[in-house]
Amino acid sequence: MVKVYIPRETTANSLGAELLVNAIANEAQYRNQDIEIVRNGSRGACWLEPLIEVETASGRIGYGPVTTEDIVDLFDADFINGGEHAKLLGDVEALPWFKNQERLTFARCGIIAATSVAEYESLGGFVGLKNALATDSDGIIQEMTDSGLRGRGGAAFPTGIKWRTVADCDADQKYIVCNADEGDSGTFSDRLIMEGDPLSLLEGMTIAGLAVGADKGFIYLRSEYPLTQAILNDAIANALDANFLGDNIQDSGKSFTIEVFMGAGAYICGEETSLLESLEGKRGQIRFKPPLPAIEGLFGKPTVVNNVISLASVPVILEKGSKHYAGYGQGRSLGTMPFQIGGNIKQGGLVEKAFGLTLRQLIEDFGSGTATGNPLRAVQVGGPLGAYFPESLLDTALDYEEFAKAGGMLGHGGVVIFDDSVNMAKQARFSMEFCAVESCGKCTPCRIGSVRGVEVIDRIVSAENSEAREAEHIVLKDLCDTMESASLCAMGGLTPIPVMSAVKHFAADFEQ
Ligand SMILES: Cc1cc2nc3c(=O)[nH]c(=O)nc-3n(C[C@H](O)[C@H](O)[C@H](O)COP(=O)(O)O)c2cc1C
Ligand code: SF4
Repeated sequence: MVKVYIPRETTANSLGAELLVNAIANEAQYRNQDIEIVRNGSRGACWLEPLIEVETASGRIGYGPVTTEDIVDLFDADFINGGEHAKLLGDVEALPWFKNQERLTFARCGIIAATSVAEYESLGGFVGLKNALATDSDGIIQEMTDSGLRGRGGAAFPTGIKWRTVADCDADQKYIVCNADEGDSGTFSDRLIMEGDPLSLLEGMTIAGLAVGADKGFIYLRSEYPLTQAILNDAIANALDANFLGDNIQDSGKSFTIEVFMGAGAYICGEETSLLESLEGKRGQIRFKPPLPAIEGLFGKPTVVNNVISLASVPVILEKGSKHYAGYGQGRSLGTMPFQIGGNIKQGGLVEKAFGLTLRQLIEDFGSGTATGNPLRAVQVGGPLGAYFPESLLDTALDYEEFAKAGGMLGHGGVVIFDDSVNMAKQARFSMEFCAVESCGKCTPCRIGSVRGVEVIDRIVSAENSEAREAEHIVLKDLCDTMESASLCAMGGLTPIPVMSAVKHFAADFEQ
């Protein structure tokens, strides 16, 4: 029986993958050909989706992007034995896009049947958990600290230190909360791994629970991800059946359970304190810090809040060792990062690489330049609160510190490309407007400042002469200084970054 892999993943689905399942099954039946359809996740090459693969005598062969109109042709071409066809890609892993990546966290994603415990174990799954069960809390936390892993949700806080803080708290109940709100523009790595290798997240959360002494975990999932919810729940059921979750995990005497909670559909619910409010059933509004969530988090109990990618990177660290993980990257940016290339780009998708490659290498070598073929004008890295970089900054290394030096931030690794048709004054206005719409309203600099910010930018672009424009620029600068220094959280505090980077690098657009 030939295995045919068809992704069950949101991007592939939006491009028709689900339609291929019946079309391929029916055609195979009509031709009396014995096939087994396997639902993997996506490997992350969105530009090739729907990417279907067949297991042939000479390895796994890909075809893409495939539509229902291709099916009869593909069967005529004997695709189930890797036959020649216009959509033939050959060995997918030999394509430069994949060959040049360094996949640690995403090593299994798109390869295995997403929720199968057996397939997960066949590629190193649950080895990390078994190693964690064989050591103690201090041992696990030391490995995490030595790995150099920093939070992939945006703030890049060292994960080992966060876990140490929670482990050191004396409490009758502690929690692991996975931040799967994934609100940043141009980001989809959390979703890809949850849909393609959900067991890695469950394993990472369980190891976090063992490390800090928590027996209950929640995944706070972005409300726009219904397919992810179904896949996560399937994976949880399978992990429970195989006793990698639940009571007395693998006869260790340790227990851990995980529940998926659907988010409230607001960008601000991705901020950890607002997320905790929402998870407690309240309106998603920022909490004052201190106390830190690590000390008084969910329902007032010590809580680890970590991003999906941070947690899904834990198994490979415990499986291969902190040294192996820290062998990737440079400086204080150790390990790998799943960068997500989107916007006006020819080959959009997910690229996992060690920190240190340049933005230009990412965009040109992997992305192949703009989709329109027009010159690139601006790149926004790190979501809606990230800086807009001009072409002249493309040689900046993708490294937390190097990016900060250049006035930007890596955030969650989203990279959005704009060609020369973009108007950067409009983008700056959009940043302020986004803040006004998404503000939780708790503090004045953000709630009112963002509304005033939109008005000031409107006055700048409509100014009748350069003196009037200059005067408004001074107001904008003052307003941004106030938002940056007086906002209660990074929503208002970082909005000035995209705004002022647009003013700095694209001044001419504010004069039209
Ligand atoms: C406005 C705002 C939105 C955020 N949205 C997210 C999000 O969608 N996902 C996420 O993981 N972190 C988000 N964060 C960061 C979280 O507050 C927090 O730093 C993170 O969940 C900690 O996990 P980590 O250390 O593993 O990165 C956001 C922060 C801010 C200020
Ligand atoms: S900065 Fe904005 S989002 Fe953050 S607390 Fe203040 S009003 Fe709320």
